[in-house]
Amino acid sequence: MKKVNIDLCSWPNIALIKYWGKKSGQTPLNPSLSVNLNRAQTRFTGQISVHDQKKAQLRLNQFEDKLQKKLDEFSLQHSWVNQLLLELQSENNFPHSCGIASSASSMSAFAKVLAFSYQSFFDERPSMEQISSWARFFSGSACRSIEKGWFLWGQTELHANTSDFYSVKIDQIHPSFSQLCDTILIFDDSVKQLSSTEGHQLMENHPQKNQRRQRANERLEQLLKALAEGQTEKFCHLVEAEALDLHFLMMTGLRPYSLLSGLSLEMIKSMWKFREEQNLFITFTIDAGPNLHLIYPLKNQNMIQRWLADHPLKDSFTCFEDTLGEKF
Ligand code: DP6
Repeated sequence: MKKVNIDLCSWPNIALIKYWGKKSGQTPLNPSLSVNLNRAQTRFTGQISVHDQKKAQLRLNQFEDKLQKKLDEFSLQHSWVNQLLLELQSENNFPHSCGIASSASSMSAFAKVLAFSYQSFFDERPSMEQISSWARFFSGSACRSIEKGWFLWGQTELHANTSDFYSVKIDQIHPSFSQLCDTILIFDDSVKQLSSTEGHQLMENHPQKNQRRQRANERLEQLLKALAEGQTEKFCHLVEAEALDLHFLMMTGLRPYSLLSGLSLEMIKSMWKFREEQNLFITFTIDAGPNLHLIYPLKNQNMIQRWLADHPLKDSFTCFEDTLGEKF
């Protein structure tokens, strides 16, 4: 019986245009755009073998039942996985619930495990589009984490070859954005009240659904231009508007809720003031939680770290330092 050893990793991404809301078949309501983190990673190790069996068998150190259920659904379209016995361990090197979407890194890593198995046992290498589409099935945002770089997911006229089923790489990135740091301020590491999957569901009958789709498309058009031309001020404005739109949508749905904390808002106001005084390139985004991603170029790192070290709120957060993009 053939066995292969697995040692594969993947990384989270941070969305600058947010995926929020789904259409049928795990496709997005609007196109989204993200860039990878570098230091934060999920690693899968273990062994995979092929057996004469009717159903894929998964042994995993965490979330085994949840992933087995997803794998069973996946096998309805991909019957080849039914022959696999996957004996795996997964490990994240970043704190749980810290504002980094662990589902993107773990589910993209799992899609890479499936791709490696397919190649090993069936002698065919799946394309990047196929692997991205497999990752999307397990978690939407994971389809943007197959390779490093800036990725766009969702069909749009604004860029060539886009699809609702997989992400495509954006190559036109100005050098102003090629060495970005991401300092994640963790205000609260408790598990959130509402998962992203539940949040997406609440978009189905959201009064702002059509306007949201339009806003995301308009911002995407402007962001692609800003990224290509090096418009850093425009970049900051768009990224912040998108982050705040995500939280506005949570608060204005038919079942309103908020994942922001007073501290995240205090910090945003303080960053705006600091930026104006220093005339620096620094911006923020937030995912579905209270924790803030401060994004700025490497050349400003010392100054921003000093500002954070002396900050009046410094005892209210811990920092996770990372970098963005593929140039590090
Ligand atoms: C706020 O990809 O976690 O991070 O497809 O249900 O697994 P599922 O949702 P998920 O949603 C991520 C939402 C987000 C924005 C983004 O990453 O684009």
